[in-house]
Amino acid sequence: MKNLLKMLDLTADEIIDILNLADQLKYELKHGIPHTLLKGKTLGMIFEKASTRTRVSFEAGIYQLGGQGLFLSSQELQMGRGEPIQDTARVLSRYLDGIMIRTYEQDDVEKLAEYGDIPIINGLTDFAHPCQVLADLMTIREYKNRLEGLKMCYIGDGNNMANSITVGCLKVGMDVSLACPAGYHPAEEVLDFAKTYENFELLAEPAKAAEGADVLVTDVWASMGKESEAEKRRVAFKGYQINDGILKLAKPDAMVMHCLPAHREEEITTAVFEEHAAEIFEEAENRLHAQKAVMVMLMGE
Ligand code: CP
Ligand code: NVA
Repeated sequence: MKNLLKMLDLTADEIIDILNLADQLKYELKHGIPHTLLKGKTLGMIFEKASTRTRVSFEAGIYQLGGQGLFLSSQELQMGRGEPIQDTARVLSRYLDGIMIRTYEQDDVEKLAEYGDIPIINGLTDFAHPCQVLADLMTIREYKNRLEGLKMCYIGDGNNMANSITVGCLKVGMDVSLACPAGYHPAEEVLDFAKTYENFELLAEPAKAAEGADVLVTDVWASMGKESEAEKRRVAFKGYQINDGILKLAKPDAMVMHCLPAHREEEITTAVFEEHAAEIFEEAENRLHAQKAVMVMLMGE
């Protein structure tokens, strides 16, 4: 594993190795066992979109590993004035030990990896959010003690989260059921991959998708960059919500997960969100541990 660009690039074994190391780092952190595995290393963190969890967990994470993070707003880099990503990659490779980038186009992240010669981590694009999904799988395994054979149901927009969680769950042997409205399906590349699995279905009806689920997942109706479509999307996504009715169709001990930020009473009701806040905030915490594992695997000796 050289980079973390999208879940499609990872093997099942690589995913499990990351989760195992993440569990170990979480244990060590909680027990005050130092793990300065990236002493003296610098991670550049390029942000073209807003972030709370990704920014803070990467910065705190690299610090806990003995290294340092450098926050780089794309607006303040020459990139913001049009310097090509290919040149940015070749320059930053000479100063840094790794780059985490959050941007719009998946192509930009792939290009950064192609032209740079340090590990590149995708901190979210319109296409993918692999860091989130590694934390999600870690959280599911923590609660359920296994992944294989569990059913994950995702309700809502076929966005970066839907793309990544579909691939991640299928790779580790989970059943995947998606409920997305027409016109908002996951990316073609993801569907082509998913359709090779018998335990995958893409439905229109949230109620059908939720039947017997062990994990219910949702995400915002209008992702970053889609704010101008918010009104139109409110209409298209009506009913694509995790609420009490949907929860009753899942297994009695079903988990609810949300990558956050959440829009209460849109993709999830306030009541369900609060009832499942323990899982949702554990999921947010696990961003830290999962990303530390990714950094150690990519940037460590
Ligand atoms: N879930 C997630 O990526 O959160 P941020 O946008 O706050 O980083
Ligand atoms: N789909 C959301 C995820 C935010 C973490 C977005 O891209 O805005």
